[in-house]
Amino acid sequence: MHHFNYQNRELFCEDVPVKVIAKEVGTPFYLYSYATLKRHFLVFSKEFENIEHLVCYSAKANSNLAVLKTFANLGSGLDIVSGGELRKGLESGFSPEKMVYSGVGKRIDEIDFALNKGILMFNIESMEELVIINQRAELCGKRAPVGIRVNPNIDPKTHPYISTGLQKNKFGIDVDEALEAYRAANSIEHIDLVGIGCHIGSQITEINPFREAINSLKNIAQQLEKEGISLQYIDIGGGLGILYDDETPIDLSEYAKSIIETVKGTDYTIILEPGRVFVGNAGILVTKTLYRKSGKVKEFIVVDAGMNDLLRPALYDAFHVIQPVDQTDDPMIVADVVGPICESSDFLAQDRYMPNVKQGQLLAVMSAGAYSFVMSSNYCSRPKVAEVMVKEDSFNVVRTRESYEDLISGESIPLFL
Ligand code: LLP
Repeated sequence: MHHFNYQNRELFCEDVPVKVIAKEVGTPFYLYSYATLKRHFLVFSKEFENIEHLVCYSAKANSNLAVLKTFANLGSGLDIVSGGELRKGLESGFSPEKMVYSGVGKRIDEIDFALNKGILMFNIESMEELVIINQRAELCGKRAPVGIRVNPNIDPKTHPYISTGLQKNKFGIDVDEALEAYRAANSIEHIDLVGIGCHIGSQITEINPFREAINSLKNIAQQLEKEGISLQYIDIGGGLGILYDDETPIDLSEYAKSIIETVKGTDYTIILEPGRVFVGNAGILVTKTLYRKSGKVKEFIVVDAGMNDLLRPALYDAFHVIQPVDQTDDPMIVADVVGPICESSDFLAQDRYMPNVKQGQLLAVMSAGAYSFVMSSNYCSRPKVAEVMVKEDSFNVVRTRESYEDLISGESIPLFL
């Protein structure tokens, strides 16, 4: 459910015509609906209201400060993967005691930053990392709260680039070595073992991998309990898939039920790290048709947004619905929607059955709230686009479009040149 709807054949975000924003802000731009963000958080949280839990929104999905602040205001915690996300989380009002920090490559400065701010838990991904966190904790005069991220060797049946819980993936500590890892970690001086976690992948549309994962974590936690190592948190990660095309996303109540049933009767607090499911369908990318072009074998719709603005189609062959901001009676055609970048992978859609749009017409690339602006780059010296948030009948630019000055800021030409 989102708040991008047509009124009299014109696309609105909540109560604002998309065209009005395009006129003021220019194109391309990302557009987020506040009501959709809020609704997604509330609907999700409600499913878990009867168990001890903490929702930690996964900042990497969309870390615009306004988006972060939306979730912070609703009481969310934050899943972070870098010092930058920690900084943005603090800036937008998240309490560090509600932050969990995963990632295979945490740097010393990032570890120190997190220790000094007092985050809830480091999800460590290797024993070498644990040793470093222990050393840093001693130097900072702190104790480090740690959970081990387990790699449960479960196939989430999603795109290989976003599967993270298989043995061949770089993430976590192998499930077969987890108990040993806990036993070893338990005797390390400046470490408090507080949790266990996993994150098996993203855009998952089958419930069974989640069931297996939570079961596996619970079994390890209970075995540890018997050995005198009692953990407080079970962190199930994120990964819920959303509707982009013709998927059947997991029913949220089913998902919640499978988690609740597994931990019923235990004292564990469940940590959830949803990203895409909160923001994915709460955002769109608005782009303008620059040119029409008929190739020998293809029709091209050349737009002003490229793979540097939205990488997902080029990187994962991801599907995003593309629809005109103004609906017309134009006939349907099959076309590639392509950007201005000098690569053949610079497409937003390929062989897409869509209206025969003309030069100047605006298009909305749907479901572009997650992993979209955050993965954009300045490739081909293109300034990053603006981000806008709508609430009811008003809109706010929540990130200004980069200027040509921004493009060269920080660069310098050495004297020998
Ligand atoms: N927790 C951890 C440790 C993660 O690595 C991720 C995502 C999440 C939570 C949130 O997962 P979600 O609920 O959003 O599925 N760029 C890719 C997705 C990469 C996901 C990375 N990790 C894409 O555009 O599809």
